[in-house]
Amino acid sequence: MRIPERGRSRDEVMALLERAGASDLPWREGKTFAYVYEGGRDVEDVAKHAYMRYLTENALDPTVYPSLLKFETEIVAMAIAHLRGDKDCVGNFTSGGTESCLLAVKAARDYARKERGIAEPHMVLPVTAHACFQKAAHYFDIGMTLVPINPQTFKVNPYDMEAAIRPETILLVASACQYAHGVIDPIPEIAAIAQRRNLLLHVDGCIGGFLLPYFRRLGAPVTDFDFAVPGVTSISMDFHKYAYAPKGASVVLYRSKALRRHQIFTAATWTGYSVINPTIQSTKSGGPLAATWALLHYLGDEGYLRFAERTLAATRAIADAIRRNPHVRLLAEPESSLIAFTADDFPIFPIVDIMRKRGWFVQPQLGYMGSKANIHLSIDQSTLDLVPQFLPDLEAAIEAARSANLRLPEEMRAMLASLSPETFTPETYRQLMALAGTSDGLPEGTAPINLMLDAMPPEVAGIVMTEFFNDLYVQPREAPAAA
Ligand SMILES: Cc1ncc(COP(=O)(O)O)c(C=O)c1O
Repeated sequence: MRIPERGRSRDEVMALLERAGASDLPWREGKTFAYVYEGGRDVEDVAKHAYMRYLTENALDPTVYPSLLKFETEIVAMAIAHLRGDKDCVGNFTSGGTESCLLAVKAARDYARKERGIAEPHMVLPVTAHACFQKAAHYFDIGMTLVPINPQTFKVNPYDMEAAIRPETILLVASACQYAHGVIDPIPEIAAIAQRRNLLLHVDGCIGGFLLPYFRRLGAPVTDFDFAVPGVTSISMDFHKYAYAPKGASVVLYRSKALRRHQIFTAATWTGYSVINPTIQSTKSGGPLAATWALLHYLGDEGYLRFAERTLAATRAIADAIRRNPHVRLLAEPESSLIAFTADDFPIFPIVDIMRKRGWFVQPQLGYMGSKANIHLSIDQSTLDLVPQFLPDLEAAIEAARSANLRLPEEMRAMLASLSPETFTPETYRQLMALAGTSDGLPEGTAPINLMLDAMPPEVAGIVMTEFFNDLYVQPREAPAAA
């Protein structure tokens, strides 16, 4: 495919964009229980206007865009106050949770290098910590120990964290809350260990950090997790989740500038302009900053509290319905706005496809270390109005999955379980894809592939997923679909 020879009218291009999105996951009615946090039309409108106003401004150089510096420092100040930090706390705006967590790990690595002379750093994290910490370990060449969790509460035991500490450990990680099951790790106890062992502790509040203080104010029991806990040295918190900002909006906060210094990259050792990058991105649109700042002013604390109240009510209603259904069970007692449920008598994944046919998106999660295959729901303020529609559909989907009882044949399960990364070849991949019923693109239903992935050793599932995306992102060879 080549760049189209001639341009088209604005209207034509807009129509093409609309057509391209026709089979995307519809999110606007709030029927999507992952990926999207919906604040409603007015919130979207404010965010879009603010975003477009600052679309082209470049946050690469805050000295020539004082507006962007103002937005960033004020957003960070609000985030610090929200998480009970003091005047010594500092932070930066980033493109998302992953970037915030990557930066916290990079800062910890370079801090430990300088202050403690650690050459081969290592970190300790619960297996429920978001995979972006494994990505950080992978990108920054840091060793890690994944600590198992209590299979009843899905929280890590602080003593297990302590037992995993080594002389070269630089950082402990805990979540408030963790994504998969929505529970909060015992952060005060882990922080006490971090202090006693003179270690840094990053609290991943990417998904819970913004919402949980509101839940606390609404009377829900919320474990202390923020800067009010001595020993917490950095926190990540996303605005593009429960602050309903457009994607590309998060902060990473530090207890002190002394630690944040190690996040910043500068280079005067090349022939171009002076590079001073506090975050991973260099050139970046002012759009996410402006939209986040605008929404904080538009909704205000009062608006967010109202949204949190709606989110809490929706979560409780859905969790209650799952508790009442004898065929499924909650994996953990939800402590935030996230729910994971599973079934013991039939495979759970077909529910995803059945719900999709009814217009809902619920998210499959593979089993791993004490967490069996399950379905995840991220609930937001828009869910509340849909609960009366959602619950009967969910009940019907559970019933249909139960009678379908879609299982992999025993020989196939045994074959999948016997796969190993050492013997995995392109031919193995081709055979697996044929078995899963995929042709060129995405499989019809997602259940067969998820059941298969769940039956493989996780290292092999990782290889399969890599190959799948390596195949998915290929250039169309035909004329443009738009022609
Ligand atoms: C706890 C937690 N940490 C980190 C992330 C990664 O955030 P992002 O997808 O914005 O990179 C997520 C995403 O859901 C999360 O829930």
